[in-house]
Amino acid sequence: MSKNDLTTMLAIDYPIIQAPMAGVTTPEFVAASAEAGVLGSVGAGYLSAEDTRQFIREVQKRTDKAFAVNLFVPEHVEMNQLYLREAYEALQPIGQQLGMPFWKAPLSESEFDGQVQVLIEEGVKIASFTFGLPDEKTVRLLKEHGVHVIGTATTVEEATLAEQSGMDAVVVQGSEAGGHRGSFAGELTLIPLAKLLPEVVAAVEIPVIAAGGIATKAHMEQALLAGAQAVQIGTALLATDESGAHPKYKQAIFEAEEGCTTLTKAFSGKTARGIRNQFIMDMRDAVLAPYPYQNDLTKGIRKAAAAQGKSEFMSLWAGESVHLTQDGSVKAIIERFVE
Ligand SMILES: Cc1cc2nc3c(=O)[nH]c(=O)nc-3n(C[C@H](O)[C@H](O)[C@H](O)COP(=O)(O)O)c2cc1C
Repeated sequence: MSKNDLTTMLAIDYPIIQAPMAGVTTPEFVAASAEAGVLGSVGAGYLSAEDTRQFIREVQKRTDKAFAVNLFVPEHVEMNQLYLREAYEALQPIGQQLGMPFWKAPLSESEFDGQVQVLIEEGVKIASFTFGLPDEKTVRLLKEHGVHVIGTATTVEEATLAEQSGMDAVVVQGSEAGGHRGSFAGELTLIPLAKLLPEVVAAVEIPVIAAGGIATKAHMEQALLAGAQAVQIGTALLATDESGAHPKYKQAIFEAEEGCTTLTKAFSGKTARGIRNQFIMDMRDAVLAPYPYQNDLTKGIRKAAAAQGKSEFMSLWAGESVHLTQDGSVKAIIERFVE
């Protein structure tokens, strides 16, 4: 495997990025990825600025290799209290089944600017973004401090916007991908990786990273042949020893059959792919608050479901290739891609 611009820029041995997965990527997981010769990524989207700092320091204790920190670009959404109440009430039957007729749902506030400052102060050298692109001032600030920036796109238009905003590389997220769609411009469109990747490669000059359903060495080679300079792998690493996924979540991954994933907005208000379960089915026609408010409303439910080990009410984010996920350490899984 020959080196290319991107692997040189990211100082990695293999053209692989461990996908940032908020809530799943532990410091051990990110450090194990870095030590295995790929780019580790911290999923810091839901963290406060101070927790982001502590997380970065925990990774730095475990590896002296570079790693990325992934942030959620905040969106401004108008919220109406009446609508929020309706969305909360729509969750009541599920709350009841978890023995909690009421639960607190404080609304979170993004600490994006504070997180950017923390990245600079802690010497992080790669920042990746999803749900939008950072503004000009933020991109300039990061670059002045030698931080490489990576955007996420789900269409050719978004990839072009990422390039124009100064991103050094762009992750192209095919419709197969697990977790939230990174979409931010225009209507939500679902384009499979095999179609989207060559279109983006033809449209932009910056290195392209392929994501979505990459679970085997053959999948990876296909993406590299289609012009990607690296692949970003999430679901294939979800059930590793170092992953922070709940044991019941890992069990659902190992029991997953082909075709078991679906897209839903029910957990967060934003479209995401996960294993179909009772929560998704029960909430199919329910009133939902927009992201990030729906995410705040369901937090208590997801926490209780995790504490009670009830995977039917947990968010089991996973991509279309989840049935191919294997167990083992991060290192063992990466070896299967590069041996
Ligand atoms: C559990 C989970 C959490 C995720 N969280 C994030 C995240 O915090 N930030 C992000 O940019 N992408 C996130 N993603 C999407 C990944 O970056 C990537 O697009 C996806 O995992 C690729 O598809 P695959 O899961 O089929 O490998 C997440 C994916 C999963 C499965």
